[in-house]
Amino acid sequence: MHCTDAHDMKLVSTLTIQNMGFSFLILMMTISTAVAFPFDYESYLLMPHSLTGSGRCLSWRVAVEANNIRDWSDVPSYCVDYIGSYMRGSQYRQDRDIVCDEALKYAKSLNLTGDGKDVWVFDVDETTLSNLPYFLSEGTWNINATSFQDWLKKGEAPALKEPLKLYKKLKNLGFKIVFITGLSETYSDVRIKNLKEVGYTEWEKLILKGANDVSSAVVYKSSKRKELEASGYRIRGNMGDQWSDLVGSNTGDRTFKMPNPIYYIA
Ligand SMILES: *[C@@H]1O[C@H](CO)[C@@H](O)[C@H](O)[C@H]1NC(C)=O
Ligand SMILES: *[C@@H]1O[C@H](CO)[C@@H](O)[C@H](O)[C@H]1NC(C)=O
Ligand SMILES: [Mg+2]
Repeated sequence: MHCTDAHDMKLVSTLTIQNMGFSFLILMMTISTAVAFPFDYESYLLMPHSLTGSGRCLSWRVAVEANNIRDWSDVPSYCVDYIGSYMRGSQYRQDRDIVCDEALKYAKSLNLTGDGKDVWVFDVDETTLSNLPYFLSEGTWNINATSFQDWLKKGEAPALKEPLKLYKKLKNLGFKIVFITGLSETYSDVRIKNLKEVGYTEWEKLILKGANDVSSAVVYKSSKRKELEASGYRIRGNMGDQWSDLVGSNTGDRTFKMPNPIYYIA
């Protein structure tokens, strides 16, 4: 027998085994699908339509994240505990993680020209920094303007770890970082210190809300992004926890919604 024959024989038998394996896999998948997912559409139609308990709050959260529920002022009282578990638990972390993973995949797929004009826009609160310690110490999801200002003045908001990792990788890929925050520029010093202390060490621009920026967040953020583009920057990515960070004009090539079921900013 020639070497090539032996090689061919081996190839044929490997293919046969692979083929059998594949058929077996299909068979097993068919069986397990049938067993694990016996779906009776008639019974499904008869199931109760009104949601109760945490199922209702999960639906509320999904509707909020998808921008179907808008202009809400408080977490519904029946979801306060559910949101508490969500924010403290691993789901919130995983929800951020998956957004940042997708963002990185997208960022890597772009071929930057290296002219220093490719920008990634980040919002700050609940996008790169977390105010969760404030809410947990208050024991409520409602913001008390006075105590919230006291918290902000401390400049002790921790970094959200997943976007911090993304931020570092984006910088290595050659993106310029621009922070656009709805926070007043009176907090400029404390915010700069806060960002740097937790690892956001440098940026192209940090834009805070000026005394003349009296419009809604959508209008304010759109106008700042427009100014950026007018000065030659290309917004390749835009990440925020509020829809008002991501809609309006000059929204960038792609937007990424970070989770936030605790407050809404129009
Ligand atoms: C970026 O460059 C790589 C390698 O040259 C190429 O495969 C890819 O399609 C390019 N991506 C875009 C978005 O142009
Ligand atoms: C808001 O916070 C301030 C400062 O901590 C406190 O004095 C005030 O009672 C709070 N208001 C409400 C309505 O809880
Ligand atoms: Mg925010």
